[in-house]
Amino acid sequence: MNTMETIQTRRSIRKFRSDPIPEDVLDNIFNAAVWAPSHRNSQPWEFVIIGTETRARLLELYQTVMEPVLSNPDLPEPARKGIMNLKEDFGGAPFMTAIMSRPPQDHLEKMENLPTAAVAVQNMCLAAWEQGIGSVWLSIGGHPAAGEILQVKEGYQVVAVLAMGYPEAIPPAPPRESYKNRLTRLP
Ligand SMILES: Cc1cc2nc3c(=O)[nH]c(=O)nc-3n(C[C@H](O)[C@H](O)[C@H](O)COP(=O)(O)O)c2cc1C
Repeated sequence: MNTMETIQTRRSIRKFRSDPIPEDVLDNIFNAAVWAPSHRNSQPWEFVIIGTETRARLLELYQTVMEPVLSNPDLPEPARKGIMNLKEDFGGAPFMTAIMSRPPQDHLEKMENLPTAAVAVQNMCLAAWEQGIGSVWLSIGGHPAAGEILQVKEGYQVVAVLAMGYPEAIPPAPPRESYKNRLTRLP
């Protein structure tokens, strides 16, 4: 798969097979993260592997947060299906990780630590996909209650929680609007 194919075919996966991700594949995924660019090569990211106990607490929070979302009758069907899958033990993902950005030390880091760590997250998702591993980036990590569950240290920020594994189901690609509609040319 070339880079463009990997970027375009990657989908957010919300239902996984139970097969574990081999260690060497996980190693490649985390290595891909640290090859992301960063200001002054500061590498402002930290990774947490989410174990069974932590995952159970996070799942409880996810289910609670999703309850009112699911009770909205106007929720589009694909979104409902995705949430229903994730509500069941995060789609059965065999592996979960959280990515944090480090506490900023100056104004530049205040602006850039979080987006830099997000670039590392995307590297992970693409490296995973290229090796047949699906992932979904979950917003639950940003919930105030997730900080305590994920034992986030002072000044760190959760950038993403990723559920990962071999896909059980690959959804169709949600449409993209052309970049041409978002483009401004400056003189
Ligand atoms: C910052 C961020 C947060 C996201 N949060 C969630 C989430 O909480 N639950 C979910 O099912 N998908 C989540 N997604 C995945 C998006 O729904 C998905 O990327 C988008 O619908 C486009 O689909 P695709 O990734 O398959 O191309 C998130 C993606 C990003 C980048």
